[in-house]
Amino acid sequence: MKLTSRSVSLVPIVSAVAAAALGASLIMAGNANAATTLGAAAQQSGRYFGTAVAAGRMGDSTYIGILNREFDMVTAENEMKMDATEPSQGRFSYGNADRIVNHARNQGKRVRGHALAWHSQQPGWMQGMSGSALRNAVQNHITQVATYYRGKIYAWDVVNEAFADGSSGARRDSNLQRTGNDWIEAAFRAARAADPGAKLCYNDYNTDDWSHAKTQAVYRMVQDFKSRGVPIDCVGLQSHFNPQSPVPNNYQTTLQNFANLGVDVQITELDIEGSGSAQAANYDRVTRACLAVTRCTGITVWGIRDTDSWRANGTPLLFDGGGNKKAAYNSVLNALNAAGPTTTTTTTTTTTTTTTTTTTTTTNNPGPGDCTASVSLNQWNEGFVATVKVTAGSSALRGWRVTTTLSNGTVTNSWSANRSGNSGSITWTNVDYNASVPAGQSTEFGFQGTGSGAGLDPTCAAG
Ligand code: XIL
Repeated sequence: MKLTSRSVSLVPIVSAVAAAALGASLIMAGNANAATTLGAAAQQSGRYFGTAVAAGRMGDSTYIGILNREFDMVTAENEMKMDATEPSQGRFSYGNADRIVNHARNQGKRVRGHALAWHSQQPGWMQGMSGSALRNAVQNHITQVATYYRGKIYAWDVVNEAFADGSSGARRDSNLQRTGNDWIEAAFRAARAADPGAKLCYNDYNTDDWSHAKTQAVYRMVQDFKSRGVPIDCVGLQSHFNPQSPVPNNYQTTLQNFANLGVDVQITELDIEGSGSAQAANYDRVTRACLAVTRCTGITVWGIRDTDSWRANGTPLLFDGGGNKKAAYNSVLNALNAAGPTTTTTTTTTTTTTTTTTTTTTTNNPGPGDCTASVSLNQWNEGFVATVKVTAGSSALRGWRVTTTLSNGTVTNSWSANRSGNSGSITWTNVDYNASVPAGQSTEFGFQGTGSGAGLDPTCAAG
C-alpha cells in the first residue's frame, strides 16, 4: 500500500527543540483519485485482485499485457498441482510453475500456491496408492513443494475440495480420505513446517451458500482446527457461478461467518457465466460482499479473457476474447474504487525561535493482510538518518517488504532490515526477529546516508 510522508525542513533542524507553537489538524477524506486497474483499486482497501495464469499462454502478448497491467496476485492454473510438480515419485518438476512464479515476482505480484493435496489431478503413480504409503507420499510431496517455494508464496491451498457435494456434509471419498480422517490436518501441519511464512488455506467449491450442508461441514472443520490449534489461516471459496449454481443471497453471510472463526477469507477462482448487465451485476455483488467483510483479503478470477477460461462457452470472465474490458470489468473496478482508500491526513507545524518544521503525513489506513510504512527523516546538510515504521493492518504480518526511493543519496549504514542496494529503488525486508508484527502494531528499521533523504516515499507489502 502506498503511503506518502513528507518532511520539509525550512531551516536545519536543531537538536534542542523548544516548542513555541504546535498546530495539528486531522482530516478524514474519502477516495480522492479512483484507481484505473483492478490490482490498484483493490490495494486501496488493503486487498489484492488476482487471476489464474497458464504457462502455455505466457507467449501471448495481449494476455501478458493484461496480466501485467491489471492483477497483483497470481495463481498457477494447473502448473503447481501434484501431477505437474511430482510427475514420477520423488522426481520433482518445477519448470512451468517457476515460469509463472518468477514472472509474477519480477512484476511485483504475489503468488497463491495451488494446490498441495487434492483428490484430482494426481500423478498416475499416486492414484493407485493407498494406506500409509500414500500418506507418506503426500506428506513428502507437501514438504518438498512447500519447501522449494518457501518464502515466495503468499498463501497455499493446502487441501482442495475434500468435502462431498449434496446434503451429507461428509468428507469426499478419495484415496486421500481413505488414509484416515486426519489426513487434512496432517497436510496443514506439514505445510506449516515447510513454509511458516505462507498463509495456509482450505479451498473448496459449493461452499458459497451458508445454508448448504457442504458449507456447514467445512465451517465445522475449520472451527475444530482453530479450537485444537491445527495451523489454518484462511478459507478459499472457489466461487464458480452459473445459472445452476448462482451467487447465493447469503454469500456475504458465508464470508463473514468463516471470517468470524479467526481466519482470512479469499475468493479464489471466481468466474460467473453470463453476459452484459446481468453478469456485471453478479460480479458487483460478489465484489461488494468481499469488501464488506474485513477479513476477506482478496479476489482471484479464474483466468483473464473468456477464451482463456476452463468454461469458455459460458463467457465467465472480465475480458472478452479480444482482451477488451467487459461490463463486468467496469462493475468490479467501480465497486473496488467505492471501497477505498480510507485516508488520514495529519499536518503538524512546530515553530521554535530558530526552527520551523512542517511534517505532513498521509496514511492509507492498512486493511487485512496489509501494511503501511511511514518515514521520519532527520536531514542535515550532508546526510540524513531515516527511521521507517512498518505498521500491520487488521491481520498480523509474518514478514514484510518495504520499497523506498533514494534519488539523491547513498545509504552508508542500516539496521533491523535486509536491503537490496544503497541508492535508487531499495527494497527492505524483515530480519528474523521483526518478521512478525501483530495486527495494528508496528516495528521500525532505519538507515543512515549521505546526500538527501527527501522523497523516500515508502510502500509496504506483506510477505
Ligand atoms: C481447472 C483448470 O482450470 C483446468 O485447466 C483443468 O483442466 C482442470 O482444473 N477447481 C480447482 C481448479 O481447484 O484447480 C480447477 O482448475 C477448477 C476447479
